[in-house]
Amino acid sequence: MAKIFVVFGATGSQGGVVVSDLLRLGGKYAVRAVTRNPESNKSKKLAEAGLTLVQADMNDLDSLKKAVKGAHFIFAVTDFITAGNVETETMQGLNILEAAKTTLDTLEAYIWSGLPDARTQPIPYQNVVHFNSKNDIAKEIRRSAVGRVLTEVRLGPYYQNFVKAPQVYGPQKQSDGAWVLMLPVNADTRMPFTSVQDLGRLVTVIVEDPAKYRTKTVSVVSQRVTPTEMLKSWNKAVGLKTTFKSLSTDEYKERLMSVHKFPSPMALTLAENLSVYRDDPEAWIEGTDFAVQDVLSDLKTWDEYVKEEDWDAFFKSIN
Ligand SMILES: NC(=O)c1ccc[n+]([C@@H]2O[C@H](COP(=O)([O-])OP(=O)(O)OC[C@H]3O[C@@H](n4cnc5c(N)ncnc54)[C@H](OP(=O)(O)O)[C@@H]3O)[C@@H](O)[C@H]2O)c1
Repeated sequence: MAKIFVVFGATGSQGGVVVSDLLRLGGKYAVRAVTRNPESNKSKKLAEAGLTLVQADMNDLDSLKKAVKGAHFIFAVTDFITAGNVETETMQGLNILEAAKTTLDTLEAYIWSGLPDARTQPIPYQNVVHFNSKNDIAKEIRRSAVGRVLTEVRLGPYYQNFVKAPQVYGPQKQSDGAWVLMLPVNADTRMPFTSVQDLGRLVTVIVEDPAKYRTKTVSVVSQRVTPTEMLKSWNKAVGLKTTFKSLSTDEYKERLMSVHKFPSPMALTLAENLSVYRDDPEAWIEGTDFAVQDVLSDLKTWDEYVKEEDWDAFFKSIN
């Protein structure tokens, strides 16, 4: 019988690549894709691809216990943006943990998508709170029996944010028609970007040899890329002359609030999160046991990603 693999966030970026890579293994795992809404278009696509959908909500512990019943593997990720605040995100992460505790008889790997503790980093920012909530959850996992089978993965900002969250990470068309990428970093800041596709491949390797990765943390940075390098590839791919404008942390926060209507605390968190890279591009990766490069070869480069992305769909979606 195929072992049961429960994937949280299966309709999202991280869980989405995990389920599609597990599917490629052709029935090796009985994959349960967790969603709050099995009737959504994204869920229906997963079902059409052959996945079993499980309806559960991270706010509802009973639903989570049912979703993970008998699981051999769990991939868990919380969604800070939808949760809206760290208290809710922390509660959701701890709910998944509580549910996982009921599977200890079968559980071989609990893969937690975490982030480092911003409070212990040598950075001048106090509001990168969604890192702290994920780190608090990881500490609780480690303190529990589930910690014995924990592997934590820590991703940098996704390449895919260019299309998924263009208001935060992507180039913006100005009123005069010019395209400008505005970030609170310098043109030559090497930012630690992640292709979510590399996460999918990493998870399939971890579960092939869970013992090797138990209690370990893996940093998942596919390539360090500067805004100048990003725009060079993007401009070539889409035929634009996008320029880069470096903003201060405050300017970037104000833009998220005034142009994109982000609530102030969320705008501050996102602004400080990115600003960290200007001060210390090496921030966040300390204290991990493996880098994804130790596990996988052929990590996706930014240039490869840009050549593969469906930019026609992107331009349609923002017009
Ligand atoms: N963006 C980045 O560059 C980046 C980098 C590192 C880490 N992260 C972290 O990644 C996390 C988000 O992951 P993602 O980008 O994969 O998310 P995403 O693409 O925005 O999708 C969110 C997923 O979470 C599920 N979800 C939300 N609320 C839920 C709930 N109450 N119960 C059950 N499922 C729920 C959604 O499922 P349904 O809607 O189908 O229920 C969906 O599958 C965030 O916490 C963020 O801090 C992001």
